[in-house]
Amino acid sequence: MAMLLSEKQITQLKRRVKETPHPREMILDVLHAIQDANGWISEEGVELAAIILGLSPLQVEEVATFYDKLYRRPVGRKVIHICDSICCWSRGSETLMLRLQQLLGIAPGETTADGMFTLLPTCCLGACAEAPAVRIGKTLYGNVAPEQLEAILDSERAEGQL
Ligand code: FES
Repeated sequence: MAMLLSEKQITQLKRRVKETPHPREMILDVLHAIQDANGWISEEGVELAAIILGLSPLQVEEVATFYDKLYRRPVGRKVIHICDSICCWSRGSETLMLRLQQLLGIAPGETTADGMFTLLPTCCLGACAEAPAVRIGKTLYGNVAPEQLEAILDSERAEGQL
């Protein structure tokens, strides 16, 4: 289990949990640390988080399954989140989703054979003024037009291979 995070990271997180009035406030921080280090959060990741936080695995699982940016299954190196909430939907997010499926050769929820991209619909990304919005990895793209997607994927792919 210790392989999911380094001993140093575990010690640092445990210290921060101790300094926090309510360990639950630290659940997202701990889960993000595990996801950043491993790409996703396995059962063992939930168990490790529970140990670090001094909570039950169920208490951690409740949070881990609530947020769609926490991945409970293996994903590609970069996850593409296409917003399908009202502003983005009304400004063409369905077309973006279809174009990305064409370009990547995968359906929503799938990962490309090279392990680079996973395609997921998502709720509001908080960029409604720039609808339609797409988040790839940690980068948010606003006012995305279907014809821009190929170049965006190329640059994300190049960065992911560094
Ligand atoms: S509705 Fe898409 S970013 Fe808010």
